Amino acid sequence: MYNELMEKLGKYGQEHVLSFWGELGPDEQKKLSAQIDVIDWDYIDGLIKEYVLKKSTVAVPENLLPAPFFPLIPANGEMQKKYNEARSRGVELLKAGKVAALTVAGGQGTRLGFDGPKGTFPISPVKKKTLFQYFAESISRISAKYGKPLHWFIMTSEMNDRETRDFFEANSFFGLMPSCVSFFTQGTMPAVGYDGKLLLGAKSSLALSPNGHGGTLLALRLSGCLEKMKSSGIDVISYFQVDNPLAPIADPLFIGLHSLEKSEISAKMLPKTGPYEKLGNFCMVNGKLHIIEYSDMPAKLAEERKADGPLRFLAGSPAIHMISREFAEKLTANGKLELPWHKADKKVPCIDANGNSVNPSVPNAIKLESFIFDALPMASKTMILEGARENEFAPVKNPSGVDSAESCRAMLIERDAKRLEKAGFKIPRKSDGSPDCLIELSPRSAVDDEDAAELFIKNKNLNFLHGEELYLE
Ligand code: UTP
Repeated sequence: MYNELMEKLGKYGQEHVLSFWGELGPDEQKKLSAQIDVIDWDYIDGLIKEYVLKKSTVAVPENLLPAPFFPLIPANGEMQKKYNEARSRGVELLKAGKVAALTVAGGQGTRLGFDGPKGTFPISPVKKKTLFQYFAESISRISAKYGKPLHWFIMTSEMNDRETRDFFEANSFFGLMPSCVSFFTQGTMPAVGYDGKLLLGAKSSLALSPNGHGGTLLALRLSGCLEKMKSSGIDVISYFQVDNPLAPIADPLFIGLHSLEKSEISAKMLPKTGPYEKLGNFCMVNGKLHIIEYSDMPAKLAEERKADGPLRFLAGSPAIHMISREFAEKLTANGKLELPWHKADKKVPCIDANGNSVNPSVPNAIKLESFIFDALPMASKTMILEGARENEFAPVKNPSGVDSAESCRAMLIERDAKRLEKAGFKIPRKSDGSPDCLIELSPRSAVDDEDAAELFIKNKNLNFLHGEELYLE
């Protein structure tokens, strides 16, 4: 086995991967050999030459134009009519079981620095429900509301798959039917040192990491989930990220417009708060929709404003999509999907040539990831709908400050407070306008204003007091 592996690696100058072979037991040798076998070495060698040794940068397409979108508030009567029709269509599709939820949860959450899959992070303000529980309860309510179980697909990675499944088992799937929850695992990519050599995570293992959320579509295909969707009559996939508990899982307007517009992949957009907000920019290039990362957007364009004030490139991406199953099938038809790679300099724990552990304090490697939004230009038809930030986007990325658990909880409280006020409850507020109580509205009983209105009818006499903690289910 050693000689065969050495021959393979030798062709690409990666013989060091076997440096500790003699020290490994049979199982460890098998593991390392399996990792080496699944790699397409010609392909990886090409990527190393292009992205690591040549230090190529992302080519931003020329002729960027702002992408058109459907506004949050319909602009005229005709659009209002279309929105009404879309809402009805969305409800119809949900009632017919044509929609599935898909959460991408394979990331490593390095910025948050939480030990465990991000979905197991406690987020809700009062009960500290985890992100997974929060979504599970929303899905349970949506299923009851539309009279059809909403199938939930969860993408994990090799790094967190076992822990994620165990978490669901240990919590009895939060009351969902296990047959309506499907886990599938994305692919991995090896981390590459700046000298073009693959890093070893241990003597018996390459340093591997998940291949980016762009791995979703191929993983759906290779895991058999696309087949499962087809045989269950699912046509539309509602895609969202595990770290955004406000993500609209089943928004009838979004689902309906996606369907009416015959879009293959659709996106929610948020008006950016400023030229450099860290959201991808929706742009048109030669008639195709692209997302240009905030770090790649030319400053001149990012800062450009229309005559009446707003940014010309206003549309930012909260990573919320509707994807047609048929589009996912088409893109992965031959069991492959080549999305562009994005490279990032990362601090990757590894072992050195002597087998000693290294925990770098500065980046020591390139990681390559693909992004789901690079599928946008591959679609024959796309659609963008404006979302309401305060109701749809509260990402948990950092341990503190911007996009942290704290900012996310404040947004959850505010969203629930507004929802309850709209329903008729009186919510005490501080002088700065923020709620003066800790509120948590269980998604098990309310996922929209209509549900909140029903809660009001049942709990009319409930008083929210200053400084109080209140959980409503
Ligand atoms: P991020 O790009 O924020 O990455 O992922 P992350 O891994 O969660 O966090 P950092 O960058 O290491 O701090 C956005 C969403 O995409 C998923 C994540 O789980 C999150 O829901 N994701 C990301 C995957 O499912 N797989 C990946 O390979 C990368």
